[in-house]
Amino acid sequence: MKVLLGVSGSIAAYRAADLARELMRAGHEVRVCLTDGAAQFVTPLLFETLTGQPVLSGAFEEPIAGRMAHIDWARWADVIVVAPATANTLVRLGLGFAEDMLTTVVLASSAPLVVAPAMNPSMYAADVVAFARERLAARATIVLEPQEGDVVAGEHGPGKLAPIAEIVAAVQSLDVRRNRLAGKHVLITSGPTVESIDDVRFLSNRSSGKMGAALARAALLMGARVTVVAGPQSAVLPLAATVIPVHTALEMLAAAQGATQPDVIIGAAAVADYRPLTRQEGKIRRDVGNISLQLTPNPDVIASLAATFPGAQTVAFAAEPGPDVATARAKMARKGVFAVAVNDISRSDIGFGADDNALQLLFASGGQAESGVRTKLACGIWLLEQLTP
Ligand SMILES: Cc1cc2nc3c(=O)[nH]c(=O)nc-3n(C[C@H](O)[C@H](O)[C@H](O)COP(=O)(O)O)c2cc1C
Repeated sequence: MKVLLGVSGSIAAYRAADLARELMRAGHEVRVCLTDGAAQFVTPLLFETLTGQPVLSGAFEEPIAGRMAHIDWARWADVIVVAPATANTLVRLGLGFAEDMLTTVVLASSAPLVVAPAMNPSMYAADVVAFARERLAARATIVLEPQEGDVVAGEHGPGKLAPIAEIVAAVQSLDVRRNRLAGKHVLITSGPTVESIDDVRFLSNRSSGKMGAALARAALLMGARVTVVAGPQSAVLPLAATVIPVHTALEMLAAAQGATQPDVIIGAAAVADYRPLTRQEGKIRRDVGNISLQLTPNPDVIASLAATFPGAQTVAFAAEPGPDVATARAKMARKGVFAVAVNDISRSDIGFGADDNALQLLFASGGQAESGVRTKLACGIWLLEQLTP
């Protein structure tokens, strides 16, 4: 792969030289872009000599006269790795600044981004850094968490650059994955549905849409075309996906059925089983005393999609309040899906709203596989790797 290695002004900048060499050893072509901060620690000459390629740094540099380097390099890169990423560079990347060469190239590129932060633990804990990391999650960004340990200035905590081998492994895994779903269409339902009671109130659920957003990013990383039919969710969906916003289960079903033929369908949405039989106009007032709400069942969205698109591999998500395989298997048979991904919502460290998840994938053919606890993005990649459309 063509790897653009961005280096920023951390004390760990010297380790980028080893990283460049290891990436080349793994068979990748490497070009380096330095921030002004990085150039205080390491020189362009070092990387030019190591890689045999020109090194970019200034925002207005043009190694080939008349060719805008930021566009040229953005198009060239199959993947961009920013390592080490300073707090400053991380925040600028997260907010979409483009006032130096590195951030401009990243903004101009649609290549997957791998970011390996290195900074003082207090800087890493700063609100604005956390905010930037969340923003980066909206792109197909892999953030390799800094390691815990003793950092310069006598502090201890998460701040050390991830091991070089881990950064190289992230690039390698992107290489393996990137063509895995090339030419395939992945349709994902995500987030909660909302079912109106009157013009003001609705019935909904606790789904954050994080799993759906992670699945969308995972499928994009693996080269798929992605459509997400999303209820009003808080998690940010990747820009490269086609997003169809909906509110109710009926809208979700209609929108998903209207999608072009998918190869894979994943039902990560938490669809309301019931909706109010009637929607009251205006606002129900308190002065009417006790009221009862009559509910009517919604259609089973994922079962209907499996029937609409029999050629696709359809995976239903089953949120179970405990490790209940028998109920999930019965659900799978009822829904007529290819597989069901069970997640245990009784655990607070995984599932609803959490950043991590653990999936148990049961196949209609009888097999099963377990992901173990991973980030939702890693779970998404794992799940898609279990399918062979
Ligand atoms: C000796 C020294 C070491 C530094 N190490 C780090 C670091 O590890 N991480 C970090 O976020 N900032 C570090 N900084 C601060 C950055 O260099 C500074 O915020 C700079 O503006 C970053 O610019 P850049 O992100 O464009 O490279 C360090 C500064 C100095 C003087």
